[in-house]
Parts: sequence; C-alpha cells; structure tokens
Amino acid sequence: MNVLLVGNGGREHAVAWKLKQSKELRNLYIAPGNAGTARCGENIDISDTDIEALVDFAKGNAVGLVVVGPEDPLSLGLVDAMEAAGIAAFGPRRSAAQLEADKAFAKQLMRSSSISTAEGRVFDRFSDAKAYIASRDEPVVIKAAGLAKGKGVVVCDDPADGILAAEKIMCDRLFGDAGNQLIVEDKLLGEEASILAFVDGKNIYMLESSQDHKPIGEGDAGANTGGMGAYSPAPVITDDMLDKITREILVPIVDGMKRNETPYKGVLYAGLMITTGGPRVLEFNVRFGDPEIQAILVRLKSDLLEVFQAVCEERLDEITLVWDPRPAVCVVMASGGYPGDYETGKAICGIEEAERLDDVVVFHAGTKQQGDKVLTNGGRVLGVTALGQTTREAQARAYEAVERITFAGAYYRKDIANKAFT
Ligand code: AMP
Ligand code: GLY
Repeated sequence: MNVLLVGNGGREHAVAWKLKQSKELRNLYIAPGNAGTARCGENIDISDTDIEALVDFAKGNAVGLVVVGPEDPLSLGLVDAMEAAGIAAFGPRRSAAQLEADKAFAKQLMRSSSISTAEGRVFDRFSDAKAYIASRDEPVVIKAAGLAKGKGVVVCDDPADGILAAEKIMCDRLFGDAGNQLIVEDKLLGEEASILAFVDGKNIYMLESSQDHKPIGEGDAGANTGGMGAYSPAPVITDDMLDKITREILVPIVDGMKRNETPYKGVLYAGLMITTGGPRVLEFNVRFGDPEIQAILVRLKSDLLEVFQAVCEERLDEITLVWDPRPAVCVVMASGGYPGDYETGKAICGIEEAERLDDVVVFHAGTKQQGDKVLTNGGRVLGVTALGQTTREAQARAYEAVERITFAGAYYRKDIANKAFT
C-alpha cells in the first residue's frame, strides 16, 4: 500500500520509521517531512495545511491511506477532504478535531460527560476575564481557547501575572484568533502523565503510558514548550490508575463525542494531572503527543500500518498491540533560545555516531537536508531516543547519544526521566 504521512516533526519521523517496518508498505510519502523522514520514504514539498494539494497528490499517486500527524490539518478538515475523495485517512474529522482546537468546546463536553477537569470559566471579553482573575487570590491557569502550538497556556502563581497573560492573548493577540476566547482555570497539583489511545469510533485501545517534560528548564522551570523530552512507561500510571482513567475519562469522552454527533476516530491524547483526588484532565489532543510518541513507538512491536487500517475500518477490536517491556527515554535537543527566538541553519554533526550505540534512534524534528549536510530548521531539532533494561539505563544511553551530537547553540534538559525515580 502507498501511504501519505502529513507533517514534519519528530512525531512524523517516529511514525515514518515505524511504518517503514511494515510488510504492507509499498511507497511512503511524507509531506513536507524533514531530513529524518527522507531516510524512510520520499519527502513531498507540500505544506501540511495545503488541503487541496494534499488531496491532489494522494489521488495522483494511488495513496491508499493518509496519516495525519499534526493538529492544524486535522482542524482544517484534511480527513474530511480525503474521505470525500474516497481515500482512507487516519485521524479525526474536522468536527471531532474541535476537541483540541477549541478548548471551550472541550471544557463543555467534559462537563456534560461528568469528566473530572480543572474548574474553569470561558471569556469572550478581556474586561470580564480581568475582573474574574482580579477577584481571585489563588494561582490561575490562562489558556487561549484555540490552537497555539502548545504555547497558549500560562500557569500563573500570582493572579496579577494572569491578567498580564490574558491581556497578551486577548488584546495583543499573541496567538491571533486562537485568543478570541480565553479559559481561566484553577491550577491543579500533582504529577502529569500522557495517555494515548487508539479510537475507532467505538473501541478504545490504550497505548503504553508516558510522561512529557513541558517546561524549557530543568526542574520544570521556565516557559512551556512543545515538550523537551519524554519517557515510557510512566510509573505514576499504575494498573489501577489505568482502569480509573479508562472508566472515568476515556469511555465517557468517546461516548460524549458520539452523543454530540462528532464521533471520534484516530488517536486520542489525554493530558492528565494525577492529583490526590484522582486523575483530572488538563487537555485533550487529537493526535500523537510529541515527543511522547517517540518514546512509545520504539517500544511497539506490532505493525503500525495494520493498526491505522483497523482504526479507519472500525475493527480495532481485532488488533493486539505487542510491546517491548523495556522502558524508553527521549531527550529533545533544541535550538538555543527556543521557545523564544532562535536561529536556524546550523550544521548538525554526530547523528550517525549516536546511532551506533545499541538501541538508540535519533528522530529528526526541525532539520533539513542540504547536500550531504543536515541543518537545524526549527525550535525542537532532534529527539534522541534510547531503550534500556531499566529507565535508568535508557536514560544513560540517551544522554550518551546526546553527547555525541553537536550543533551551534544546542540546548537540552539534563533531567529527562528523573521523575521516574522519585
Ligand atoms: P495544556 O496545553 O492545556 O496541556 O497545558 C500545557 C501545560 O500547562 C500542561 O502540560 C500543564 O503543565 C500546564 N497546565 C495546564 N492546565 C493546568 C492546570 N489546570 N493546572 C496546572 N497546570 C496546568
Ligand atoms: N508533548 C505535548 C504535546 O504533544 O502536546
């Protein structure tokens, strides 16, 4: 089968790497891809949001399945457009992708489905949001309702900072239309975890657990990023906890989406806070978490293409996911300055040396090929991923690999996976 994979991040390189191992795969096209995906298939120079061009390409190249990586094309209706052209596509339709693209919609649905989440209010006007925040003397979390590349959330221990954040989002339009509505939430305390599940409209199949590291700095200091590293499994997710998450969160949200006539198909990502009162939802995403999926996919033994097909054909109940029991750790190497301004075009050295270590895969995110050189081309540049007999061994191996890789201004957190030991 010919497959078109849409996106250009670490997530897409990890998916491409895994798809390439499928015996069903004939040609793999990645639009637009990066220097890493080019090693797994053919990069196609079409933007991930150019719906028309993507559909034309799929039609013209006998593509049997389209796999959509990022949230933007999903919320623009790429899956709907492919289906209208008679091409199977993995991912939710536009109406279901609202679960991530519109946090006010998600909040409403969680409420009506009795899913535990932070108390929150939705505002259309800055003056109302400001008055509400000013009336509180506890920490607040300020969220742009729309898509903001994982950067639209500010946790403010001092409500005065909350007002400033709200002003930036609503008045200065830091994230454009994504800030037309604002959510103000209570701050939850606990340990975060990411739960990803395949959903085919009715059946739910959970992937192995993982934990992301959102803030840029060690010890979780500083601004939130798309994610600076991940490990899988996450010990905070015990079997009992997993049961609870299934019963109290995943089943009700999938039912709620069905009731709302926006049935969910694809991969569903629940960002959770494990509080003393149980698991509570921070957000739903409608795609694989990145970098989480890098640490998860190196552990998957099953054929990913078969899984994607089963989801599209609503026969997820026929599939069994087989996992490597060994833990994995993924350390993100980023461009200096990220998540603020950073430079690109720096030559990257040492990737091959890093991959010479046993059980190490270097996934590319913001990279591009220029002649025989690989250059930096984004904020998050590489996801250096390793397996080990224990999380400690995987961590040591990932950092050994990281130390073999150099580029000007490279930055990475040195404490990825430490939380697994506490
Ligand atoms: P989100 O994009 O909604 O997952 O938010 C990004 C990050 O902000 C999360 O991974 C958490 O670290 C933090 N966050 C979001 N909502 C809350 C909340 N209600 N309480 C505490 N932290 C939060
Ligand atoms: N790593 C967090 C996300 O993918 O949203």
